[in-house]
Amino acid sequence: MRWRICSLGAFALSTQYAFAAITIDVTNQESIKQAASQAAAGMVRYYTGHHLGDVPGNLPEPYYWWEAGAMFGALIDYWYFTGDDQYNNITMQAMVHQLGPENVFQPPNQTKTLGNDDQAFWTMAALSAAENKFPNPPSDTQASWLGVAQGVFNLQAARWNTETCGGGLKWQIFAFNNGYNYKNSISNGCFFNIGSRLAVYTGNTTYSEWAEKVWDWSSQILFDSNYNFYDGSDDKINCTELDHIQWTYNAGTFLVGAANMYNFTDGSEIWRERLMGVIGNLNIFLKENVMFEAACEDVGTCNVDQRSFKAYFARWMAATIVRAPFTREYLKPILEASAQAAVATCTGGDDGNQCGLKWPQRTFDGSTGVGEQMAVLEVVQSNLVDYVAAPATAETGISEGDPTAGTHSPVGPDDLHRHPMSNMDRAGAAIMTVMICIMVIGTMLWLVVGD
Ligand SMILES: *[C@@H]1O[C@H](CO)[C@@H](O)[C@H](O)[C@H]1NC(C)=O
Ligand SMILES: *[C@@H]1O[C@H](CO)[C@@H](O)[C@H](O)[C@H]1NC(C)=O
Ligand SMILES: *[C@@H]1O[C@H](CO)[C@@H](O)[C@H](O)[C@H]1NC(C)=O
Ligand SMILES: *[C@@H]1O[C@H](CO)[C@@H](O)[C@H](O)[C@H]1NC(C)=O
Ligand SMILES: *[C@@H]1O[C@H](CO)[C@@H](O)[C@H](O)[C@H]1NC(C)=O
Repeated sequence: MRWRICSLGAFALSTQYAFAAITIDVTNQESIKQAASQAAAGMVRYYTGHHLGDVPGNLPEPYYWWEAGAMFGALIDYWYFTGDDQYNNITMQAMVHQLGPENVFQPPNQTKTLGNDDQAFWTMAALSAAENKFPNPPSDTQASWLGVAQGVFNLQAARWNTETCGGGLKWQIFAFNNGYNYKNSISNGCFFNIGSRLAVYTGNTTYSEWAEKVWDWSSQILFDSNYNFYDGSDDKINCTELDHIQWTYNAGTFLVGAANMYNFTDGSEIWRERLMGVIGNLNIFLKENVMFEAACEDVGTCNVDQRSFKAYFARWMAATIVRAPFTREYLKPILEASAQAAVATCTGGDDGNQCGLKWPQRTFDGSTGVGEQMAVLEVVQSNLVDYVAAPATAETGISEGDPTAGTHSPVGPDDLHRHPMSNMDRAGAAIMTVMICIMVIGTMLWLVVGD
């Protein structure tokens, strides 16, 4: 009897989990798509912004606004890599809702924590939308994905701060936020990322010149000659000391920017050398080619944000292969080994296929969340890089740009409430003034005459 109950229990367990766990054959396109689809479903189930009464584009606690932008970037790539459009509607709704005034991803609700990097993660999703020919936003938004990226680029270029450290973007935009005195790698690296991609997309050298400038400054302050990308530095001490922590996504964002500059310069020697330099130092984030977040994973201190960083590391490796095909032989094996190890952690949660954090262990480690799911999704779908069409440029794309976008939004602390009047506003104001004068004079005349 006891034995029977026991074996019944084992049978129930084995049937419940018969279809759980994600598997992948990295040489088989359908298998990769299937794994990506499972990882995507596991990620999207955290999202509630499309429910009635919720705010489109926001993830519930404890996820910050920026990570939602990163998640929609992952979903735009998901559609591009797999052709599965089931999440396009929620993505469009979220991206449009968060555009904010002047369509530069600076919604007033986020002002109290808005950093240049947060804005950049939403912007890079828009840039991916332009590159991947994601459907255009509805015309009543007067936005285009390319125009959004150009607007944010213009804003961040105006924020370039030469008062300290010889240049650089501050982390935070507004002086009342913690981190306003910090010049960090992710903010500057994402500005470099956006500039280099805009250069490739549009062919406009304004963007490539800025990308060069950001790289040069960063190479003096934020990373060393061995391509160790440090977290950032305090501008109150003129960036003379660094926070030496290294994160995967910092290396990743400089990696893909360098790949775009390599491509923009038709394979120049200098950018090839820089690109190879970055690749040569990636091993600090790898265990037998499997990615890990070296600064926090083994010690078990990765916070909610940090658990998503490998997502962008993988995403930008794939984009690097696209823009600099010669890097495929170095990066594709990393994407393959990492995807295989990553899906082996996806045996957790109530459905038995939630993914964990520590890929080198190849078993579920008890850690679940949006970041864990997104990282697995990105590393899995990046293995489809050989099967998709090259990203669009201005000639082949469907997103109309606007090089002057973003020039009326708050740049920094001094003009949070700045609303410069356009010529239209001025003309409108003048007409209003004249009409009020006529009314006042008319009323007075009427009073006088009527008397
Ligand atoms: C997306 O929205 C459109 C228009 O509302 C609708 O026709 C379509 O069925 C939706 N697609 C999905 C996958 O939900
Ligand atoms: C800002 O917050 C309000 C109140 O929660 C909400 O209704 C609105 O949709 C939010 N806007 C954005 C862009 O998140
Ligand atoms: C601050 O750092 C920059 C860049 O390293 C340097 O050019 C500048 O001279 C420094 N300023 C001061 C006051 O030390
Ligand atoms: C630039 O990127 C395209 C694909 O986007 C690729 O076909 C081309 O070979 C790249 N150029 C160089 C120099 O690698
Ligand atoms: C290139 O980009 C810059 C910065 O956005 C803009 O001012 C300029 O008009 C653009 N040039 C062309 C030819 O589009």
